[in-house]
Amino acid sequence: MAANIIDGKAFAATVREKVAGHVTRLKEEHDITPGLAVVLVGEDPASQVYVRSKGKQTVEVGMNSFEHKLDAETSEADLLALIDKLNNDPTVHGILVQLPLPKHLDEDLVINSIAPEKDVDGFHISNVGLLGTGQKSMVPCTPLGCLMMLRDYHGSLSGMDAVVIGRSNIVGKPMAQLLLGDSCTVTIAHSRTKDLPEVVRRADIVVAAVGRPEMVPGDWIKEGATVIDVGINRIERDGKNKLVGDVDFASCAERAGAITPVPGGVGPMTIACLLANTVTACCRANNLAEPEGLTA
Ligand code: GUN
Repeated sequence: MAANIIDGKAFAATVREKVAGHVTRLKEEHDITPGLAVVLVGEDPASQVYVRSKGKQTVEVGMNSFEHKLDAETSEADLLALIDKLNNDPTVHGILVQLPLPKHLDEDLVINSIAPEKDVDGFHISNVGLLGTGQKSMVPCTPLGCLMMLRDYHGSLSGMDAVVIGRSNIVGKPMAQLLLGDSCTVTIAHSRTKDLPEVVRRADIVVAAVGRPEMVPGDWIKEGATVIDVGINRIERDGKNKLVGDVDFASCAERAGAITPVPGGVGPMTIACLLANTVTACCRANNLAEPEGLTA
């Protein structure tokens, strides 16, 4: 069976269109423009690319983008002072501090200094706790994007067996919480899991988020399962640089019912969900109805 391809690039475009519609409504009916502040410390090349892309897409959907680029030697006190200023700025509805931070800065301390209601990454300890207890929170962008694609493809996820491979705070753990929230039976697998192939073979939904190129082969996939590949791994093959996921696309696509490609699957959904979270945060800050279909 040839799998259906879940086109994340096209889906992300529909999310951005919805966001842009809400932004127009906020401007016209309430004279409010949602604003996203992105803080980058240092010159990490990958982070610079992401931050540029976030700023560009923020402006494209009609929101205000505030970029704060600080040098690599910025002190923790100066960074915390900037976050405090953004926390208290009513034109800023979302704050994102690009990770990783330089080694001398305490990432947990910095993230937990962001006002939880402006924490559009969903990394603040309050948002983690709210998500874990099924309460309204800001939800991390990548797992939110995966959930949106799964809901769009399946409708209800209720009763499905889901296996999340990877237990990171950014993807694996929140993904598992979201699937549980949609009434899946959830297993989180990781490097110490016994008989990983057998665990994965039970799954109706496989979310691979380990950061190891093509580690899931097709014969681990149950016939007809849905495979969501979060991995973005740069490898060299036949003398060329190539982007591959955490699953072996060719063999998994032969058994899966549906699969996300890399590139063009989960990747584009992450920034689209960041924009969605910013508009959600803006609506909540102004006691307005939340946009439907853009939250968990
Ligand atoms: N670095 C890599 N991915 C992310 C992300 O989703 N959010 C932030 N803040 N930093 C990142």
